Amino acid sequence: MNGAKKKPLLRALAGERLDKPPWWLMRQAGRFLPEYRALRAQARDFVDFCLNPELAAEATLQPVRRFGMDAAIVFADILLVPMALGQKLSFGEDGPRLEAIADHGAVGRLREDGIASRLEPVCETIRRCRAALPEETALIGFAGAPWTVATYMVEGGGSRDFLRVKSWVYRDPEGFQALIDLLIEATIAYLAIQIAAGADAVQLFDSWAGVLPEAGFARWVIEPTRRITSALRARFPEMPVIGFPRGAGLMYERYAAESGVTAIGLDTMVPLDFGRDRLQTRLPVQGNLDPILLVTGGEALEGAVNEIKTALGRAPFVFNLGHGVVPQTPPENVAALARLLAEPL
Ligand code: CP3
Repeated sequence: MNGAKKKPLLRALAGERLDKPPWWLMRQAGRFLPEYRALRAQARDFVDFCLNPELAAEATLQPVRRFGMDAAIVFADILLVPMALGQKLSFGEDGPRLEAIADHGAVGRLREDGIASRLEPVCETIRRCRAALPEETALIGFAGAPWTVATYMVEGGGSRDFLRVKSWVYRDPEGFQALIDLLIEATIAYLAIQIAAGADAVQLFDSWAGVLPEAGFARWVIEPTRRITSALRARFPEMPVIGFPRGAGLMYERYAAESGVTAIGLDTMVPLDFGRDRLQTRLPVQGNLDPILLVTGGEALEGAVNEIKTALGRAPFVFNLGHGVVPQTPPENVAALARLLAEPL
């Protein structure tokens, strides 16, 4: 436990300010790395890949080996939860496809008891990574937050307007609540087995937190997150939970105050002075470089990194992107970022 406390990521999440902020990148394992593409070619499909601990552990470790981030994030996907609940899932050229569920009856056919059994391979990936990672490198587990996972389950994939899921929310909030309740329980169970397997911290990805008006944000984003953080805190009092309510805009403040998260991930659009003055005064913040600057590189990258370090580096802070690494990113730009972050403030 003492050794674990020394990990820079965990020190920052516990509220300590570090001269060199710890860093990792959302979607740091993925198609921008040639070694990932080679590994990916060995699995029949993406779900098989995520559920193969040997391949998934290798994918998790690849970016850390190359760039020396302060944390690895277990290689998996937020949509493994609906799959484990019994929904058909596949990944095609145009992204994920789920057999859409549209009413209360379909919710009744989902089964929470699949979480521990079907997602056990993710725990095995965590154990393997744990054994292979340097002692100072943290291992992050994750899940999608209930609202974001529900959007994929109801839309049957990605969406532009969230027409189906929002129509359900407005027409039949009590029926939709049953789906969210199931996802809350499933998410608690899933994160708990990841923690038991050796995750040092967990992150909740709420990628579509930004599409709801105020009352919906409180009910479908903040409240489910609060129930998850309080259940995890009861079982694992010290476990850091990072919340990432992407696109929350002005609602970032209420999320920080009410969701119970230990630290908050800032998306690309969050102004640095707002992050510093309104959020970091309350909890450690993580973020928020525009991932496209990692495609551009050069002086634009350097300038933006320095701005973020100057604004947020004087209080508890974890450097990250404001959203995931994109496949077009030249790996040498991530190496350049690693060098920039190695310089103390
Ligand atoms: O961060 C990491 O390195 C860990 C792995 C990770 C993946 N997905 C692997 C992945 C994480 C943390 C995720 C989270 C995830 N998955 C989110 C939340 C974050 C976000 O981006 O908003 C969401 C919404 C998903 C759902 C998902 N998975 C989509 C929409 C897609 C297809 C489009 C895309 O961006 O590729 C995926 C597939 C996916 N998940 C890939 C990877 C590496 C690409 C598939 C491949 O390599 O064949």
